[in-house]
Amino acid sequence: MTNYKGPMRVLSGIQTSGNMHLGNYLGAIRKFAAMQNEYDCFYFLADMHSITVWQEPEQLRRQIFHIAAAYIASGVDPNTATIFPQSSVHAHAELAWIFNCVARLGWLDRMTQFKDKAGKDKERASVGLYTYPVLQAADILVYKATHVPVGEDQKQHLELSRDIAGKFNHDFKVDDFFPLPEPLIKGPGARIMSLRDGTAKMSKSDPSENACIFLKDDADTIARKIKKSKTDPEPLPSERKGLEGRAEAANLVGIYAALSGKSEDEVLAEYGGQGFGVFKPALADLVVEKITPIGGELNRLEADPAYLTSVLEAGAEKASVIADGVVREVKEIMGFVV
Ligand code: AMP
Ligand code: TRP
Repeated sequence: MTNYKGPMRVLSGIQTSGNMHLGNYLGAIRKFAAMQNEYDCFYFLADMHSITVWQEPEQLRRQIFHIAAAYIASGVDPNTATIFPQSSVHAHAELAWIFNCVARLGWLDRMTQFKDKAGKDKERASVGLYTYPVLQAADILVYKATHVPVGEDQKQHLELSRDIAGKFNHDFKVDDFFPLPEPLIKGPGARIMSLRDGTAKMSKSDPSENACIFLKDDADTIARKIKKSKTDPEPLPSERKGLEGRAEAANLVGIYAALSGKSEDEVLAEYGGQGFGVFKPALADLVVEKITPIGGELNRLEADPAYLTSVLEAGAEKASVIADGVVREVKEIMGFVV
């Protein structure tokens, strides 16, 4: 469906709602930093996606700075990667409208995130919540991005982006115009689970405050949350197979592996046979060691909105040049006249 031959380009974004947590870091932001020296990378703040549900204006402003600070504190270098708010690059919204006319209702009806977020009362959900994945496709394709580092929960949205790119290429007989963007999901940390329930993903909206480790948590809070995390009475197995059916234990081992850079088998070779009385303090030390420096830097950056604003302005300017060019090409292909 595509003969795209353009350069490899990496893009991803995070909604500006809620505080960044360990799942966001391991599933997404850490990958952002890891790719920046090899590829042309665009990392944006999905502020227009966040308004698909109600946002207090003051809160939105704070959140935009929070996510920008989280990117930089986690190692994304604004001089290397391009960091910007989605809302300040107008081409995202413009291409999203065009894609609203490419995507089919049936495709959107299948999106599970809409069903989850709209809940039972879908009549009262915003129209934006429904077309959310169309805007996401525009975010990606307005840069002709080829690779998108995200956590596992975004897989279906990426498939929709590929369908939209393919249909556009096909309908307008430009089979090399848009790439079919690939999600980059694999790797440790693609799906970090709640500390209170190994079958639910770690989420900022979890009602239990002990379920989620936030990047801003201090050492005591992190240690307490890990100490209170749900486990079972068995000692750790010596091999991964022994974690089957033990979702909570598997999650803690997964977090240890992701943060230490070791494989799960290596972690189990070290801790197999030990109980959680030994493993939990070791995990807490590791999480504190890796996360509290990021939290400290995050706090420092949030206290400097002038610096963050200058980063976002420069990023928006750079991103706009590319995005505007792609929208111009799209409009010409479609028959718009100026
Ligand atoms: P969200 O906070 O839902 O806007 O997600 C922002 C990014 O973090 C996306 O790439 C998600 O896939 C990723 N993410 C969110 N929660 C988790 C989790 N529990 N485990 C791994 N990745 C996650
Ligand atoms: N939907 C993504 C999330 O909830 C955020 C997002 C918006 C995104 N646009 C994107 C991610 C484009 C990757 C590429 O996390």
